[in-house]
Amino acid sequence: MTVPLVLGIEDFENNPPTTIATIDASSTRHHTLIVGQSGSGKSNFLTRYVEEIVLRTGGRVILLDPNGDYGQISRIHDPVWEEDSIQRLSELSTRANIETLDESDSFSSKWFGTNFQYVGNWISAPDDTAQQGRISRAKLTVSWMYLTQADKALLLNVDPVTHPKLYAATRVLDDHLYETFRQGGSKYRLDDLSALARAIASDRTKSMPVTPDWDQFDSTDWMAAYSRFDELIRRFGIWASEDEVAPPVRVIVENGLEQKSSCWTLCVVGLATPPTHDEVTHEDSLLAADEVLSKVWRCALSGANSARQGAAKDPPVPDARVPIYVVIDEAQLFAPSAVSSPLQGRVREKIERLAAEGRKYGLVLVLSTQRPSKLSPAIVYECENHATLRIQSPVELDYAERAFGIKSDFLKKVPKYRKQGQTLLTGRWCGETPAGIDAREFRVSLARSRPGGADLRTEAWLDPAEYRDHPSRRPRTP
Ligand SMILES: Nc1ncnc2c1ncn2[C@@H]1O[C@H](COP(=O)(O)OP(=O)(O)OP(=O)(O)O)[C@@H](O)[C@H]1O
Ligand SMILES: [Mg+2]
Repeated sequence: MTVPLVLGIEDFENNPPTTIATIDASSTRHHTLIVGQSGSGKSNFLTRYVEEIVLRTGGRVILLDPNGDYGQISRIHDPVWEEDSIQRLSELSTRANIETLDESDSFSSKWFGTNFQYVGNWISAPDDTAQQGRISRAKLTVSWMYLTQADKALLLNVDPVTHPKLYAATRVLDDHLYETFRQGGSKYRLDDLSALARAIASDRTKSMPVTPDWDQFDSTDWMAAYSRFDELIRRFGIWASEDEVAPPVRVIVENGLEQKSSCWTLCVVGLATPPTHDEVTHEDSLLAADEVLSKVWRCALSGANSARQGAAKDPPVPDARVPIYVVIDEAQLFAPSAVSSPLQGRVREKIERLAAEGRKYGLVLVLSTQRPSKLSPAIVYECENHATLRIQSPVELDYAERAFGIKSDFLKKVPKYRKQGQTLLTGRWCGETPAGIDAREFRVSLARSRPGGADLRTEAWLDPAEYRDHPSRRPRTP
């Protein structure tokens, strides 16, 4: 079964153009990498690609947004309907017998029927209400108590081999509070751990049910544990606070991935938006990404397990899983070729695992980067679909030639791309030709949802109102 996704125009230099550029939806099951220098149109490409997947397939998308470029994606960018290129695309879709979504009514009715989830400190928009409960917003928070032991040890920077005693002290406290919670007590946070460590250190715990193995630690150990917990509270701003009403990002991701009926189809995790602090640090972003990726992985594994159990039943239960697209803009921030912190290393490991093994669990990566050579090679080599927008750097071109297997004849054209969105498409989504895998050129069309990026508006600085009537700007009379 073929389902065409409409990406743009092939013969964009012609006036009017006559050929629509589509790819088959089934080719999106391969990991995808979009590369191009700043301003070449990567985020627009990513947005259009996501729109087509969401509207024409049953796939679900979780998008990690490090720059706040997708914070308005649920809204429609009405000026696009006035663009000649979009009107032409709509005509060409109709002519090619493809349902047109490049026209206000058809796009709006489908887009407004989509369930969106924003996780981050988003400002709600006036037309949220028009979408009648289809938009949910939640603050981006991470709960300490649900992190894995490996993540906790990494964050605390306590290695069981090199710091056995400190590791054991932090673990004993954590296990104690977790066990109390399991037996019907309340949830706990890092603050509770640091308070507990300090209380024991200053011997204020006579009333506490102290277990015998606590005796091996003295007050120096407890103070060391306290310092580690306290340092983490200060270092990150995204811990869930006591009065938090919104579920942590882990729960939101889980609800969507388990395909609960009213849950999101498109979830944007805004990593640039300030939660409680003045700014989100890169470490906060990494921790949130780490949590999202862990959850995505665990849900995919448990989904595969349920599918196996269903298949073994008599009669077999049909597998209703759909692909989950994990979209990461500026992917080099999360999976660079050279990591700069242990936490970044951990996030990269998770993306690498997803690249290597995700496809069999229905997980598909869609990544964008300015500099493919800065992205982990283990990930680059797993991407079988490539979109190369304008690149001028000889280093990056050389890398793309080797890593993507693009013939240099094709690649020569890339530095000459003048228009945003001009793309060289290589890999699986081009389709197979007798001579091997082909390459295609086209220009991706504008996305229809509203860009949330903070690009400078030309009118604001080249044509500001206060200079508009200045004599120097009047046309010269001969
Ligand atoms: N296909 C296109 N047709 C027309 N304009 C486009 C197209 N693609 C992008 N643009 C415009 O170019 C500008 C930059 O696009 P975009 O933000 O997608 O670039 P980018 O490669 O993601 O840049 P950065 O690396 O800085 O994030 C935007 O204002 C966008 O509207
Ligand atoms: Mg961008």
